[in-house]
This record gives sequence, C-alpha cells and structure tokens, in this order.
Amino acid sequence: MEYKEIIYKTPVKEGLINHDKTYRDFEWKAVLDHFECFSNNEVNIAHEAIDKHATTNGKNKNALIWEDENGRQKEYTFQSIKRQSDKFANVLKNIGIEKGDRVFLFLPRIPELYIGIIALAKVGAIAGPLFSAFGPEAVKDRLLDCKAKAIITTPDLNQRVCEIKEQLPTLKHTILVDSGNTLEEGEVSYASEMNKASESYKMRWVDPEDYLYILYTSGTTGKPKGVTHAHNDMISQYLTTKWVLDLREDDVYWCTADPGWVTGTVYGIWGPWLNGVSQVVYDGRFDTEKWYSIIEKQKVTVWYTAPTALRMLMKAGVKAARNYDLSSLRYICSVGEPLNPEVIKWGIEVYGLTIHDNWWQTETGSIMIANYPSLPVKPGSMGKPFPGICAKIIDAKGKELPPGQHGLLALKRGWPSMMREIWGNRDKFDEYFRVSDWFATGDTAYVDDDGYFWFVGRADDVINTAGHRVGPFEVESALVEHDAIAEAGVIGKPDTERGEIIKAFVVLGQGHQPSDSLRDDIKGFVKNRLAAHAYPREIEFIESVPKTRSGKIMRRVLKARELGLPTGDLSTLEEE
Ligand code: PRX
Repeated sequence: MEYKEIIYKTPVKEGLINHDKTYRDFEWKAVLDHFECFSNNEVNIAHEAIDKHATTNGKNKNALIWEDENGRQKEYTFQSIKRQSDKFANVLKNIGIEKGDRVFLFLPRIPELYIGIIALAKVGAIAGPLFSAFGPEAVKDRLLDCKAKAIITTPDLNQRVCEIKEQLPTLKHTILVDSGNTLEEGEVSYASEMNKASESYKMRWVDPEDYLYILYTSGTTGKPKGVTHAHNDMISQYLTTKWVLDLREDDVYWCTADPGWVTGTVYGIWGPWLNGVSQVVYDGRFDTEKWYSIIEKQKVTVWYTAPTALRMLMKAGVKAARNYDLSSLRYICSVGEPLNPEVIKWGIEVYGLTIHDNWWQTETGSIMIANYPSLPVKPGSMGKPFPGICAKIIDAKGKELPPGQHGLLALKRGWPSMMREIWGNRDKFDEYFRVSDWFATGDTAYVDDDGYFWFVGRADDVINTAGHRVGPFEVESALVEHDAIAEAGVIGKPDTERGEIIKAFVVLGQGHQPSDSLRDDIKGFVKNRLAAHAYPREIEFIESVPKTRSGKIMRRVLKARELGLPTGDLSTLEEE
C-alpha cells in the first residue's frame, strides 16, 4: 500500500542541509580533505577511525559502550581501543599474519570482535566477520573460498570450526578468546598473547585500493559470494554516516546489526568511529524490554535498526514503550527490508520521531538511497540517491525507464565504496555489470515524478528474511544432505513480521514418511549445519519438485503455487 501522506521537515542547520542542491553540486574529491592521510596515497582506515581520535581531545571519549545479555558492561575510550588494537596487531604480526591475509572473526558481539577488526586493518589483513549463528557448513564455505589463514573465535564457537578444520588446509591459526589452559596444535590464547605483546605498534600504511574486509552474501545460484571491499570505502562510510545517520560529535549511537552482516560492519564499526562518535553495542538477542532499557540507560540519541525489529516492537505495544524514558532519542533510521508506512506512522505516535528508511547492499559498501533529515519523507519510499550516486530504473537492455514504470534498479559504476572483487570469481563480478557501466542491483523498483525511489522486490530468487539475505540454493543444498530428503526447492514466503520466511518443499527418499517429527528434525538439521537464521520455518512434503529440462528448480512455480497465483506457461519455463 502506498501511503499518500508526505511528512514535511523543519529546516536543519547541520549535516545535509539541502539534499537536492548538494546532489547537484557534489564531488567526491572534496570529501578527501576530511582525512589526514590521503595526500600521499598511504592510508589506513584504522588511523582515521581510532588512532586519530585517540591523540586528540577525543581520546578520553568513549568509543565503545558495551553490554551483554547477562548484564556485563564495559566501556572503552578511543585511546583504549587504540592501545588494545595496537597490542593485538602485534599479536597478529607475531603469529605471522601479513598484509592481504584473510582472517575471519567468528565471535559474538564482544569487545574483542571490535578490537580485532581494527587490529586486522592495522596490519593490512582482510577481515572476514562471521555471524555467530553460522553452522559449520557456512563457516567452511567462506574460509575455503578465500583460503583463510586464521580465525579468531571462542572455545564454544570453535567446536563448529573443529568439525570442518580438516577440510581447510590453509587455516594455520586459531586465536581463542577466553580460552582455558588446554590448547590444541595451531591454537593460541588471545589473553596470554595480549599479555606478552608490546603496546607500541607502527601503523602499516596501505594503498587506498588495498582490501579491508570480505563479507559473503547470497545470490540465486551457487555458494555465497565473497564481496571484497577496500580501505578507500572510508570516504563513503564517513560521509553517509554523517549525512544519512546524521551523526554528530556528542551523539550516543546504537546500531543493532551484527557485524556478520554489512550493516553491522559498516555502520556498527567504521562509520560511527570515522565520525569520532561513541557507540553502544549490545551482545544479545532481540528483547523488547532489554532494547528499550538500553536506550534509556545509555541515553541513545541516534538509533539504526531494521524493519523486522521495529515491527516486533510495534507488536509489543505502546505500553511497553511508555515504561521507559526514550526521550534521549532524536533520530531513527532503518534498513534491510521494506519499511511499511504503518511502522513509520507508529514511530511518530510512540517515539515522536519519523523513522528514516535507507537502501543499500553488501556490494555497494555504503548507503546509496536514503531519507535525509532535511528531506520530506514519503512513507514507503526508500528516499533519494545519496550525493555522488547516480541511480536509475532501467530495462533489461539498459534503457532508462520513465517515472512510475517498474524496472531494474541500477547504479552508475564508480562510487568510492563499490565492491572491488567477488573473491576469485571474475565472472560473478562481471555479472553485476551486464549492462555496460551500470551496476545491476538485483532489485526492482520505480522512481516517482519527484525523484523518490520505491522498492518493488527482488528480480531474482534471493530471500530476505528479517533483513537477512539468504540464497535458496544454500538452503536446498543443506536440505538434501538430510538422510530423508531426495530433493528440495526453497522460496521466500511473505510474512507480516519478518518480511519473508523461508519455505521448503521437499521430496522424501524411499522409505521415509512425512511427519511432524521429521519436519522438526529437518529444521534442526539445517539450523545446526547452515545457520540458525537460515532454516525453513515451513516445510511442505511434495511428490516432485518442478524443474526445467536442464534440471534447474523452478522456484517461481513453487512460489506462484504457494501464493495461489497462476503458474504461467510451464512449457516455456521448461525451456529456460
Ligand atoms: O533487496 C534489497 C534489500 O536487501 C538487499 C541487500 O541485502 P544485503 O546485501 O544483505 O544488505 C542489507 C543491508 C544493507 C537489497 O538488494 N534491502 C536493503 N535495504 C532495503 C531493502 N529492501 C527494501 N528496502 C530497503 N530499505
């Protein structure tokens, strides 16, 4: 439903004061003046995000305000993050981590994760944050693909790594946070290495094009792709944080995303720290009371979250919100899935604030389309392109479509944080640029007469469940590993709370009978093997999976059947 109301804004004095004017006059190179080290092309994002602030009057300011589900709390100033990351950079160097090495972080949202990411940048290594809900299979796919040299994890999560270690010949080191005394070959203890390490570290300067982080993301086909980003991303990360999230020096900012997802890496680590802003990190699951108590206790001013979480808060009701003092909040943003106008309306009623939707992807490395503090909001729209970003709606041949017409959302190649590589897979990278210089996002959308962009859906079979991007192929692959399953087809089924849920259609092997207990067993199997968020919440037993003549699963047919829509001309689909 398109919500016709427009929410007008009061003029702002800081940040992006006039979007349309800035958009017309903008040049990326003007942003370079903000950074200390771009002049001689020797950069390091860790210098700009941490070390720079640790030597100025920001040094005693909190960089990280941390708490977990059990009520443990810690605070780290910019100076202490600098010290800890310098030490950890020495630890990494001592065990032989060099520039360009891939090092994964398989950790809950504990301070060591944040210190680790900074330290890896300091030695010029490529950080691979992993969502702690990943199962052994998902971890293996990622580490194997980019030939990881080391992993930083906890003894608990290391159990999953141990299951697949033998299949990872390049993995030489495991750094264990909170480890006991018993260490296996190749394992070192974070605490004891940190105790031994020197506090003095000399920054490893790198080229802006050298790689910073790698995050795996899903497409329709194949295993997850290693989207690789460079230090140069800091230009976009810095400015989008300032202009879209509207962060200012005295803000207390909370991004609820896990760094295993791009929002948590870019806007839960780099963006706020490049702006010298204090950020709150909560290591725990979603919980209405807990979330509100964090805002109240830490006096959060700017909050970046996701539509599913907002819908869950909405479901918890107004009373739950009224039990807390949320008056510190001054700005709210949301990303990852369509933000329903109803949620925006609710936000105005309950928080007294407009929730600002924005759009981007792992591949784009920073926010591309957004609602800004100064721009009227059309609820349901993703907003307008960020200055320096040229977004268009095109058809399959690359022809620009007029306002109102649905088509492919595409971006003109060449913004600072655009992914640099799909790790080791040139063909996959080139697929994004099928239409000359336009980066095809895989989303369909339209633009209105005022230049606002509206999300329509995915152009492919990728599932977006609670803001998590899941490839049907990965789930299908995990399903067919189950003893009882012969074939499987997976789709995203619309869901009012999670946007989509994963639904699996499975064909059982001989001798297996459908039952509720088998359903539960299959769910648990995928959860443990692949990831806790990527299991099918619904499973339907069917006789056969519709396929093309070449054997490709026709997910569109499954989806049409599920939604009670016409399945189309199956004879032509079979030719695909
Ligand atoms: O389909 C779009 C959806 O999430 C995809 C990108 O997923 P990922 O790379 O995991 O990054 C998510 C967070 C940046 C997009 O192709 N998406 C993202 N933001 C929105 C959205 N869909 C609708 N509205 C949004 N604001």
